[in-house]
Amino acid sequence: MRRSLVAGNWKMNGSIASVNELMDGLITAAADINAEIAVCPTFVHLPQVAKLLESANIKLGAQNLCDQEKGAFTGEISGDMLSELGCQYVLVGHSERRQVYVESDALIARKFAAAKRSKLIPVLCVGETLEEREQGITQNVVGAQINAVLDQEGIEGLKNAVIAYEPVWAIGTGKTASPEQAQEVHAFIRELLTSHNGEVAENTQILYGGSVKAANAGDLFGQKDIDGGLVGGASLKAEEFLAICRAAG
Ligand code: PGA
Repeated sequence: MRRSLVAGNWKMNGSIASVNELMDGLITAAADINAEIAVCPTFVHLPQVAKLLESANIKLGAQNLCDQEKGAFTGEISGDMLSELGCQYVLVGHSERRQVYVESDALIARKFAAAKRSKLIPVLCVGETLEEREQGITQNVVGAQINAVLDQEGIEGLKNAVIAYEPVWAIGTGKTASPEQAQEVHAFIRELLTSHNGEVAENTQILYGGSVKAANAGDLFGQKDIDGGLVGGASLKAEEFLAICRAAG
């Protein structure tokens, strides 16, 4: 049976003081929530949050990693560095990385592999733009993004990995995919995995992301193939994020 997971993607937000305040609001309340919960702060806030989370019911994730292990890669952060700090998850291929930093499917597949080498759980983000949806090629786009990883890692690589379906047009826009629109793509992803290995498909958590908030989380998480959420803006407010986590529990 798959457990639900709700991961907060803080993006490039937070200060030492605001991170302390947010964690203060989350830690005690999280103890009574059944869903798995993770937060993904900026790199610089990871040690601070790791310390606060020492005995908490919340896991730690990072938002990105380098595809290389170590060496002359100025400004990059390796998977081993993240593991050493206590991270269990790392986002790979978020649409802002794909679009703003022009990360290719091939680079994202290498980052996915790097995460696995460092024993991190990659959260592979996939999703179509509005233009692609309107052209009716959502499944081609999402399928190609997942196949880029499957081609390199095989279905075994998807064990201990999470997929997040995040339609680009729904991220940070306040426009959420309807539960039916989201379920349709989640079912497609599950079928794609099933065509390789039924057991891996059954066990893989597939999260929905894109303007998830307390008001729509219950309907989204009620869908058969939606196993929780990747939450951006709403994860920066403790009460709102906790309400989303409770909807997944
Ligand atoms: P949002 O972001 O919840 O602010 O739309 C989601 C994400 O980018 O992961």
